[in-house]
Amino acid sequence: MKISIQNLQLKYGSFTAIENLNLDIEDGEALVLLGQSGCGKTSTMRCIAGLEEPTSGRIIIDDIVVFDSEKGINLPPNKRNVGMVFQSYAVWPHMTVAQNVAYSLKRKKLATKEIDERVTEALTLVGLDQFAERGASLLSGGQMQRVALARSLVMRPSVLMLDEPLSNLDARLRDRLRVELREIQLKLGLTCVYVTHDQHEAFALADRIALLQGGRIVQMGAPRHMYEAPASASIAHFLGVSNIMECTEITAADGQTAARIAASDLTIHATQPPAQAALSPKVCIRAEDLQVTAAPTGSVNSWPGTVRVAGFQGNDVRYAVELEAGPELDVLGGLKRGEQHNVGDRVWVTVNAREVQILPAEVFA
Ligand SMILES: Nc1ncnc2c1ncn2[C@@H]1O[C@H](COP(=O)(O)OP(=O)(O)OP(=O)(O)O)[C@@H](O)[C@H]1O
Ligand SMILES: [Mg+2]
Repeated sequence: MKISIQNLQLKYGSFTAIENLNLDIEDGEALVLLGQSGCGKTSTMRCIAGLEEPTSGRIIIDDIVVFDSEKGINLPPNKRNVGMVFQSYAVWPHMTVAQNVAYSLKRKKLATKEIDERVTEALTLVGLDQFAERGASLLSGGQMQRVALARSLVMRPSVLMLDEPLSNLDARLRDRLRVELREIQLKLGLTCVYVTHDQHEAFALADRIALLQGGRIVQMGAPRHMYEAPASASIAHFLGVSNIMECTEITAADGQTAARIAASDLTIHATQPPAQAALSPKVCIRAEDLQVTAAPTGSVNSWPGTVRVAGFQGNDVRYAVELEAGPELDVLGGLKRGEQHNVGDRVWVTVNAREVQILPAEVFA
């Protein structure tokens, strides 16, 4: 089922939680709303589900206008066929797993045989068919989360919306359920809106990510695109780019762009044309794109410095290197490269000019 959101605005009193949001979600698409706390993810979802009345705009689900402020249309949640799974899954502890999942179907007064079939189907889908008769309070966190999911799936919603459904779980379980969720979504061809503030979760689950900041979509695209080409330094920061430096001057020479870093003697070269970096530009470099060596590499971007911190992380070592030209850089050194450096060592930090991004500070100035 397609969802179309047009010029959506939501105000709580004088505070604007969602501002002029436009979003088209394709049939069978997994769209992830990603953004930091308070950016408007849950509000957007509640508007789609009909749990919140937007101030203005239009929402269309499967060619049916479910909300239109101008025409005074506002369908109640139960007329929208939208399934929701929340962060705090309210699994009823005094019921069995099967009773939990059957609850809403019973309220709809479906025939017992159909209820049984659908409950079994939903529990099989989430891998809990063996647990149907177990008391819900005797489940692990991950299993309870799956009961909550089965309870939504059993209603056969045309759209499934999940609001941080994995955030109560430990990291390993989260990783696994993330993959299982994606499998179920693809298998059922479900149109899915998924809310998270976790970029890894977003990358793993999304066909497309809508990145929200302050109630507005600031970037939209496939996970890979978002990772490789963040639209602003603040998006890069949110996505985990750790080296972000203000520039004072940007010049073009020999097909390269040279950026002078504020409050330092450092100049960083990029292959990107200078025109792309309009307002208060910042240089952004991922820790994994930097390399630490004992000797200079001959690259235009190779600077001497001293290792301040070397944190062993298993696969790699995280270095903080204070450059002689001023700034301290966060570097992820792969151990496979064979070199390891210790605190106090004099080293060179190198980055390929292609990996240097010069970005505006914000999408909306
Ligand atoms: N009922 C309300 N009255 C007033 N302000 C509200 C209300 N609900 C939410 N807000 C505000 O609207 C903004 C967006 O809230 P929302 O719950 O959509 O954020 P979120 O992106 O889901 O954040 P989180 O990741 O913390 O869940 C926040 O600044 C919040 O304080
Ligand atoms: Mg929220």
